[in-house]
Amino acid sequence: KQTFKGMNFLQLADYSTDQILYLLNEAVELKKLQKQGKPHSFLSGKVLGMIFEKSSTRTRVSFEVGMLQLGGHAIFLSSKDIQLGRGESISDTAKVLSRYIDGIMIRTFSHESVEELASHATVPVINGLTDLQHPTQVLADLLTILEHKGKLAGLKLCYIGDGNNNMAHSLMEGAAKVGMDISIASPSGYMPNEEITKRAAQAGMETGSTVTITTDPYEAIKNADVVVTDVWTSMGQEEETAIRLKAFQGFQVNEELCSHANKDFIFLHCLPAHRGEEVTSEIIDGPHSVVFDEAENRLHAQKAILKLLLS
Ligand code: CP
Ligand code: NVA
Repeated sequence: KQTFKGMNFLQLADYSTDQILYLLNEAVELKKLQKQGKPHSFLSGKVLGMIFEKSSTRTRVSFEVGMLQLGGHAIFLSSKDIQLGRGESISDTAKVLSRYIDGIMIRTFSHESVEELASHATVPVINGLTDLQHPTQVLADLLTILEHKGKLAGLKLCYIGDGNNNMAHSLMEGAAKVGMDISIASPSGYMPNEEITKRAAQAGMETGSTVTITTDPYEAIKNADVVVTDVWTSMGQEEETAIRLKAFQGFQVNEELCSHANKDFIFLHCLPAHRGEEVTSEIIDGPHSVVFDEAENRLHAQKAILKLLLS
């Protein structure tokens, strides 16, 4: 039995391997209950506030539906409409919201803002994506890999594309914590954050897995069981779109590149995707793709986080 009392969910680095596996196990159980139509009102009467400073389809809907299925309620708080958007401080917002609600989910730009919110809130804070990390997505990704491969430790995951974004960083931490080798291929100039890379490599030493960074997508994808990519231009980087389109040529996940992965590889993408840019439709809409299972698993993985942190 693991204790999650007083914990936030800001990045996977804050969680032990056992805690991550416990969360995944909880997600599997909650998914079963939901599929069997059995009530699972573990958060009856609890309310989650969801602050969004960026767009969202999956995160918003899965958290809202997740709270409802757990017997609670979620409130959508667009930063444009709450006083935060007019300059009210993060600390005052955290203190006030903590008087009303049982947990806060936030999607914003700066990771430091989420840490600041968490340091002033007296209720758990969940990171729904920052420029640096997307941990709830990666928990869902691990659940999806586990379902399709039957295990995590010992597999090889490769990530092709923007190594310096939230998905690459959270995947590195998540893979290393569960003992999966991870290989990231990115153009120079788009390499992962060094501190996060070091932290992931350290975690990998404890679980017996490796973190490899390269500029060669063929090296990264060789013998990969799981192939992952993400958009070349993340939210907030729209002005760099043209430069990025050029920089990422040669890093598209297509049939030719994937012919170098293991025969039974699975393909993951957190979505939204740009077909014809980071991935071809042959791959994302093809037989190896599990992107819609992955999207569904946001719901089940987050319900596990909500149940363990808010109850
Ligand atoms: N994958 C993901 O976080 O999707 P949304 O931006 O739609 O929430
Ligand atoms: N890297 C992407 C992920 C979207 C879910 C972004 O930040 O826009």
